[in-house]
Amino acid sequence: GKGEYDHFMLKEIYEQGTSLSQAIEGRIDHEAGDVALESFPPGTFEGIERVQFVACGTSYHAALYGSIAMNCAGVQTSAHLANEYGVSAPPVDEDTLVIAVTQSGETADTLSAMRQAAADGARLLTVTNVVGSTAARLADDTLLIRAGPEIGVAATKTFSSQAVMLLLLAQRVTGDVVGEQRANLEALLEDVSALPETIESVLEDDDSRDLAETYLDSQSFFFIGRGLGFPVALEGALKFKEITYEHAEGFASGELKHGPLALVTPETPVFAIFTGEEDEKVLNNAEEAQTRGAPVIAVCPEGHRALNVADAHLEIPDVDPDLAGLLANVQLQLVSYHAANALGRPIDKPRNLAKSVTVE
Ligand code: M6R
Repeated sequence: GKGEYDHFMLKEIYEQGTSLSQAIEGRIDHEAGDVALESFPPGTFEGIERVQFVACGTSYHAALYGSIAMNCAGVQTSAHLANEYGVSAPPVDEDTLVIAVTQSGETADTLSAMRQAAADGARLLTVTNVVGSTAARLADDTLLIRAGPEIGVAATKTFSSQAVMLLLLAQRVTGDVVGEQRANLEALLEDVSALPETIESVLEDDDSRDLAETYLDSQSFFFIGRGLGFPVALEGALKFKEITYEHAEGFASGELKHGPLALVTPETPVFAIFTGEEDEKVLNNAEEAQTRGAPVIAVCPEGHRALNVADAHLEIPDVDPDLAGLLANVQLQLVSYHAANALGRPIDKPRNLAKSVTVE
């Protein structure tokens, strides 16, 4: 049941400390300073030359997160919407690892992309929440996110677990494909281990309700980010539109000036995500929107220079840039939830949507 919570979505947002602990349990070896993925010992990915991600919706945003992380570490990656894969994917061969990210393991678009990749000889891995799902049966290998059942149609706790598991997997793939681990891997793994507690601290201090209500009468809600902040911007907007029924869009912050800026007015609040990487550029982009009258809500740590400019603040702890976006995402989940709640939306079962989409 929902227990003390009004909605499953809120319960699942608050479960993220627990679901992440379950996800990472036994999967980090602090003594060795390495990931410890049971079915993926060092050498598992030797011979792989490129990685393609396929997924839909929120899982696609997690896939993009993983893709950017692997890419930055020197692996050739690309992320594809599973429903576009059939018409737009680059060719695969037996040196291609295709990673299908799917909470349910039953999304028809994703299964179809997996079947196509397998037919073309790729090696298939799925990151899923459901043991024995169709995706798990199709794939050569499965990495379970162990988030527990998710009832709300809006994916929340499964996104954070997917992204973290992909970050861990990225370390193994990078080690095997590039031949060396990233610098400061130990520090990242320390931050990953602490992430359940860090997320709890964000949830305990939730003060986003007033903020959500302040901007409720706006015409449109924009979310901007760069690098790993970009998939979080996309995810922030998807969650917002899905449960509030208000118009929301996520952009790569640098793209604002290439078109979307024409939409910006005092009626379009802009949530700007700062991960600690190239923040100066994101801040410039946010200021361009603010100059056109848009309120800017900075999602960043306390004391961040964006706060000299921003109209409002959603605070996140100061962590490794690889993880900051996940904390920003928790704040954005809360904002969407409070906005939808104030609007009296059904939240757990938004109109026209299903938890598992089994048609193409
Ligand atoms: O089960 P999957 O992860 O494959 O589902 C993919 C999407 O349908 C899903 O993430 C959808 O976008 C969510 N409802 C968004 O909150």
